[in-house]
Amino acid sequence: MKILNSVADVKTYISTIKALGRSIGFVPTMGALHEGHLSLIIRAHEDNDITVASIFVNPIQFNNKTDLAKYPRPIEKDIQKLEEIGCDMLFYPTVEEMYPEPVFDKYDFGQLDKVMEGKFRPGHFNGVAVVVRRLFDIVTPDKAYFGMKDYQQLRIIQTMVSTLKLPIEIIPCPIIREKDGLALSSRNVRLTKKQRSIAPAIFKVLSEIKDNARKTTVEEAENWAISKLNKYDEMFVEYLSIVDSETLLPIKDWDSTRSCLACVAVFLGEVRLIDNVMIF
Ligand code: PAJ
Repeated sequence: MKILNSVADVKTYISTIKALGRSIGFVPTMGALHEGHLSLIIRAHEDNDITVASIFVNPIQFNNKTDLAKYPRPIEKDIQKLEEIGCDMLFYPTVEEMYPEPVFDKYDFGQLDKVMEGKFRPGHFNGVAVVVRRLFDIVTPDKAYFGMKDYQQLRIIQTMVSTLKLPIEIIPCPIIREKDGLALSSRNVRLTKKQRSIAPAIFKVLSEIKDNARKTTVEEAENWAISKLNKYDEMFVEYLSIVDSETLLPIKDWDSTRSCLACVAVFLGEVRLIDNVMIF
């Protein structure tokens, strides 16, 4: 696997690949790779001639300094995992390489970035859009792969690509979970043993919303789920919302939408986890 740190080197590499007429699949990540990330890279590898991954802990998408400082960075292990699954190139830039100048770019995603993560993490999606746009400009992939674990991020990237008419196909990929249902996340390693034993309740409660959909009102389903999760020691629900899968606006009744999902953000101690389950 080629490991490149500079934008110029990536552009040179990509132009040789393109000159050979080969297709490029791209998976942007912040590292601390787990089976969730690797599933995207495996999918990219299946669909394309060349697979490119990036590892960049993007400071401008963190609105909490402790979260940024504590973000795990096991780069040697990550490189080994990428090599094992046949990734062709890793772009691993420094902050200075990605942001040589202060960043002033502003994106407007309408209501999409005002709800849920956008509401509780102001500026987060602008930071995500800035970095993904820059990475797309550098790597110029044919296809880019995003996990449905970060469903709102996926919708924002889909919107950005269609608004800017970028010639990139966005491929949504399913959420990879532990056997007990906990969605894989780089933040899971920060959970204490006790918190880790409680964490599967998140997926369990979301799944119960799905199984019981239409048996109660939407509001009752949300309130039931919030109070159930808040009863666990050290667990605090920041938001739990049943939303239209396209607009991400809260639905009022089950028939007001063609497709909806239940999305949640919880604190388990200091660790913030998000998850979602598609209802229909
Ligand atoms: P990161 O959290 O490292 O995630 C990289 C990609 O892996 C995202 O598309 C995310 O949705 C996906 N992913 C994470 N956990 C997953 C799981 N359990 N199952 C399936 N896919 C999973 O998301 C980011 O980084 C950043 O915001 C980024 C897009 C790289 C921009 O900085």
